[in-house]
Amino acid sequence: MSAEAKIISLAQTDAAQIASGSTPESATSAEKSGMDQIKVKGGNRLNGTIEISGAKNAALPLMCACLLTDEPLNLSNAPTTLRDIRTLSAVLESLDVTVSANPELKLISLKSEKTSTCYAPYDLVRKMRASVLVLGPLLARFGVAKVSLPGGCAIGTRPVDLHLKALEQMGATIKLEGGYIFAEAKDGLKGAVVEFAKVSVGATENILMAATLAKGTTVLKNAAKEPEIIDLGECLISMGAKIEGLGTSEITITGVEKLPGTTHAVVADRIETGTWMIAVALTGGDVRLKGANIDHLTALVGPLEAAGLKISQDDQDILVSRNGTPLKGTDIMTEPYPGFPTDLQAQFMTMLTLCMGAGMVTETIFENRFMHVPELGRMGADITTQGNSAIIRGVSGLRGAEVMATDLRASVSLILAGLVASGETTINRIYHLDRGYENIVDKLCACGADIERIPVSLQE
Ligand code: UD1
Repeated sequence: MSAEAKIISLAQTDAAQIASGSTPESATSAEKSGMDQIKVKGGNRLNGTIEISGAKNAALPLMCACLLTDEPLNLSNAPTTLRDIRTLSAVLESLDVTVSANPELKLISLKSEKTSTCYAPYDLVRKMRASVLVLGPLLARFGVAKVSLPGGCAIGTRPVDLHLKALEQMGATIKLEGGYIFAEAKDGLKGAVVEFAKVSVGATENILMAATLAKGTTVLKNAAKEPEIIDLGECLISMGAKIEGLGTSEITITGVEKLPGTTHAVVADRIETGTWMIAVALTGGDVRLKGANIDHLTALVGPLEAAGLKISQDDQDILVSRNGTPLKGTDIMTEPYPGFPTDLQAQFMTMLTLCMGAGMVTETIFENRFMHVPELGRMGADITTQGNSAIIRGVSGLRGAEVMATDLRASVSLILAGLVASGETTINRIYHLDRGYENIVDKLCACGADIERIPVSLQE
């Protein structure tokens, strides 16, 4: 089949369909596939190569950037099969954006020629809080937006007050009514000095996008420095935006009148990369992580090397190996980038369950991000939590069990536990995994893991 024939609508398909190239009519619905199970038989070492996907957390804001221009925005290296990408496609389509994807070529094309509505409804936004990233671009280009408040999620309350306060400082009128943000800037947004009270990835991204079309200069102080923000900024610059200071805590944006489209490659997913590095630490073996950048993971590399993993960069790839050496316990604390990422905390804690001695994990970003602890406990882990800290005392082995997780990174940590547990581990309701990990079963199988996905229709 030609590449062109593979162009599909993301919003109406599910991960299994996209991966297999089947048509929407012939496969299970997205909701059903989220109820699939993953079964893992532990004990196999991982050996081989894993191709790292484009970062979900970069692709989402990049897709929202299409609202800043009436010309096409083409994203390559895009993780087209992820559920979060499909959810955002639906949000953007509801805003009259034309979204098409070619999963084989990892391309997403977006065009927001004009819009008859600046309304992002609750039904779509509640599925994924990153949808709130349409707010800044809508307001900057169209002067008006009605976007549902995203609400809390499993890992914390996650307010958007920093986004709203910054937009008010830029001249927007904001009202909250009936669970919706009503935002208006009839004469356009104006540049301002915005000092965020807290480092926020989403607020930095929203205001960075909004400021590109504001009148005058905006200075973002205490801005987030994540590689995904640099990626967004570089895409905006290639669209003609004037931005300085990316990757530092002070970003200066000089607004322009109009932005054209561009083509941009999504940065590699550092969280997926880190997840597989921790997997190799647990199972032992030798794995090449293709297209991964060690510079984005310095806060993980140190503790992993201290625990006993060998890590090196080989051109565009990261090589990780552990052969026989026992793992040693070590402490980590999550912090904004370049600190230890909260999105790798659950996976790292899983590794600590099998380290010699004890390790301590302190979570400073989200207030409720230890939901994997009871599930790991059911597999034999010895973990005590107190407030936002957990002490993990290494045990000699984990036991397979039936488990379930309520957020993305907690779910993958249970797969990691299953890779080394005795017997079989069944992870139920893999909805969350489909949100953020592409082809997880195929990638691990190719490295020797005994893992399969059981469709809901075949479950006993
Ligand atoms: C992003 C990532 C998420 C990651 C998180 C922290 C995406 C799509 N998601 O989420 O995977 O775990 O960064 O690295 O990129 N906060 C406020 N008020 C606000 C905004 C945030 O109090 O207006 C708080 C949050 O509740 C949280 C902290 O600030 O405690 C950091 O959140 P933030 O960096 O904004 O996370 P997200 O952008 O939502």
